[in-house]
Amino acid sequence: MTRDRIELHLHLEGAAPPKFIAGLAAEKSINLDGVFAEDGGYAFDGFAHFLEVYEAATSVLKSPQDYARLTQAVLEEQAAQGILYTEVFVSPAFCGEYDLGAWAEYLAAMGEAAAKAEAQDGVILRAIATPVRHFGPDAAREAAACARESAGEFLVGFGMGGAEQAGRVEEFAYAFDMAREAELHLTCHAGEWAGPEAIRDTLKHLDVARLGHGVRAVEDEALVDDLAERGTVLELCPGSNIALGLYPNWRAHPIERLRARGVKVTVSTDDPPFFRTSMSQEYARLAEAFDWDDAEFARLNRVAAEAAFCDEETKSRLIKALEPKDV
Ligand code: ADE
Ligand code: ZN
Repeated sequence: MTRDRIELHLHLEGAAPPKFIAGLAAEKSINLDGVFAEDGGYAFDGFAHFLEVYEAATSVLKSPQDYARLTQAVLEEQAAQGILYTEVFVSPAFCGEYDLGAWAEYLAAMGEAAAKAEAQDGVILRAIATPVRHFGPDAAREAAACARESAGEFLVGFGMGGAEQAGRVEEFAYAFDMAREAELHLTCHAGEWAGPEAIRDTLKHLDVARLGHGVRAVEDEALVDDLAERGTVLELCPGSNIALGLYPNWRAHPIERLRARGVKVTVSTDDPPFFRTSMSQEYARLAEAFDWDDAEFARLNRVAAEAAFCDEETKSRLIKALEPKDV
């Protein structure tokens, strides 16, 4: 299979196949009542409930070995989806509860699993340390302290997820400053649940290069122009937005309007089994809704490769691999 897709916005725990989580729960005799629907998929109703179910499912992951197995399972799926390069969000809250030594062990286990998958299938993985916004600014600083210790070839970024309505964004500026000083690349979920003003505040206080979602920028024309001019990259996840009820259907999703206005847009799956999506499904729905052809997807992946947080040598490799082949 050709490997020509780049995914910049994927939560590692959110990518866990439900069978994988159910299997670990059974091994450990952990009760996950309420996490699964009758068909075996994840069950939730709305964003707040999604976060609860996500955290309940994540509670079965208790060791570096569990995260190594999860990394392997997720990368097998990425390989099956034709993905060449992925960045995953991983949280020091779930990986050792901010203990520096434990976090280092978790990250090493994920890095080893990633190296094996790369040797076997050619899928490249990098990680973004993730403070969870609703855990608060103090926890975000602890996450930044972990991230600072591990910044390097595998851990390349710092990016906040979680409930966007929790706290004011400036309360997280210190954590982001710590990450910036450690030379980590920065992203933050914004403009998914909150409107354009939240995006402006995020850019002002956190000075991130990319925005997780950022899709609600479309509600403010001046902001759209601003994003286009700054070259801020949007990690758009249309299937996630539609599954969570932000937009009623694919044609209503703003991705095409943002792209046409010159904003750098990319496509990711966020938490694919939760939203019953996959990269192949996202591409198929986008092609249907907006008449996008292979050249459009190639442009999209080139934008994503240029926005990747990995080192320059890896980035050049990605860009080269995406170049059209003479046949
Ligand atoms: N964590 C996992 N998925 C998320 C999303 N879509 N928004 C915010 N936090 C998340
Ligand atoms: Zn996300």
